[in-house]
Amino acid sequence: MKILSIFGTRPEAIKMAPVLKSLALEAEIESLVCTTGQHRSMLRQVLDVFELQTDFDLDLMVSNQTLNGLSSRLFTALDPLIEQVKPDRVLVHGDTTTAMVGAVAAFHRGIPVAHVEAGLRTGNLKQPWPEEMNRRVVDVVSDLLFAPTEGSKQNLCRENLAGKVYITGNTVIDALMVSSTRISLDDALRAGLDAQFPFLQSGRKILLVTGHRRENFGPGFQNICTALAELSARSDIDIVYPVHLNPNVQQPVSTALSHLPNVHLIAPLDYLSFVRLMQRAHVILTDSGGVQEEAPSLGKPVLVMRDVTERPEAVLAGTVELVGTDVERIVTAVHRLYDDEAAWRSFAQHHNPYGDGYASQRIVAALLNRTVSEFTAQPEISHQVAVDGQEDPVVI
Ligand code: UD1
Ligand code: UDP
Repeated sequence: MKILSIFGTRPEAIKMAPVLKSLALEAEIESLVCTTGQHRSMLRQVLDVFELQTDFDLDLMVSNQTLNGLSSRLFTALDPLIEQVKPDRVLVHGDTTTAMVGAVAAFHRGIPVAHVEAGLRTGNLKQPWPEEMNRRVVDVVSDLLFAPTEGSKQNLCRENLAGKVYITGNTVIDALMVSSTRISLDDALRAGLDAQFPFLQSGRKILLVTGHRRENFGPGFQNICTALAELSARSDIDIVYPVHLNPNVQQPVSTALSHLPNVHLIAPLDYLSFVRLMQRAHVILTDSGGVQEEAPSLGKPVLVMRDVTERPEAVLAGTVELVGTDVERIVTAVHRLYDDEAAWRSFAQHHNPYGDGYASQRIVAALLNRTVSEFTAQPEISHQVAVDGQEDPVVI
């Protein structure tokens, strides 16, 4: 079976890495990898950390790209590639423009599509934008739907989609477990990663921030920056913000925050370095989908700067709170987690509902038509949450 995996951004690469590793172990599968280069350096960072080889690199990114410009470059480049490779199946991940165009381009050529991370929904086409549209389109054209949770399976069932649905868990937990265990067991590696953050002071607790959503561009990012500036008045925290390379994020963030001494604006981190910072963080403030899934399994409280989420499981479990982009809501929620130990503990103690580290194996089994044991029980992850929240190894 010839499988062509198509992806192009940082989160897709992180979440596809464990799948590609599992595919490579199967003698019956010829696994080919096409990176579109929707992201350039942020994709390279992931390929390097996971030592992933690519067969086709389309290198399509342009600075400050538009959705239609990127989509048209993707269709133009992917169609002849799919014609040339003639895969038995195309595999895409999640909800990016690369995933949507990759799936539709395969569909147009009559190639079956499998969707990893199927069934996530907010029910609102404007949030996240354009991802809610992308993921719906990918699900419509896919005949194999790998839903991370029971809830995502239910979303697919409600839409009467014709594809076959498997509950697999989310592959991001596979990637996280391997990486966080590697960091926790290797003192030299950990020391090397920590050496990248010489500006962190031992008496201060880390507030780790990421943000990049298109629907937050403009007023949303202004509010986020105002809230961070206000929070920087606290002398007991270090705010660490690896800033996404999108110019619509870089510009307002650096204008508003670069002069504040305990706000550390840094370049996007490679995955191991970012996992290490998550391990060390006291609280995480983010609008990222992947971080919402990862942080709870490290026992970290997450405040999500969005009004709705397609990942409601951790909100229901009490490890994630939606705070939107309102300045007061963000500031109040962060202060509470720093000042109220009981509130912090109640967030930090919960388990992770997104996976058990075996999602990729289930996906490969399903691709090969083998029996797939469904992900139904609570994942077998135990947390060791230290009192200061600084050292939290994930124990598999
Ligand atoms: C994309 C995805 C989003 C995902 C996010 C992960 C779409 C529509 N959006 O959003 O779902 O959550 O990736 O980060 O698919 N850039 C660089 N170097 C890089 C990467 C980006 O310079 O390595 C800059 C470029 O100017 C690029 C811009 O960021 O044009 C935007 O990249 P793009 O992939 O279009 O959108 P994201 O906001 O990153
Ligand atoms: N991440 C990373 N380096 C960073 C910030 C995030 O490796 O500097 C990882 C993070 O652990 C998660 C993924 O990137 O796995 C999330 O990517 P992003 O927030 O860009 O996209 P989203 O998940 O929102 O689609």
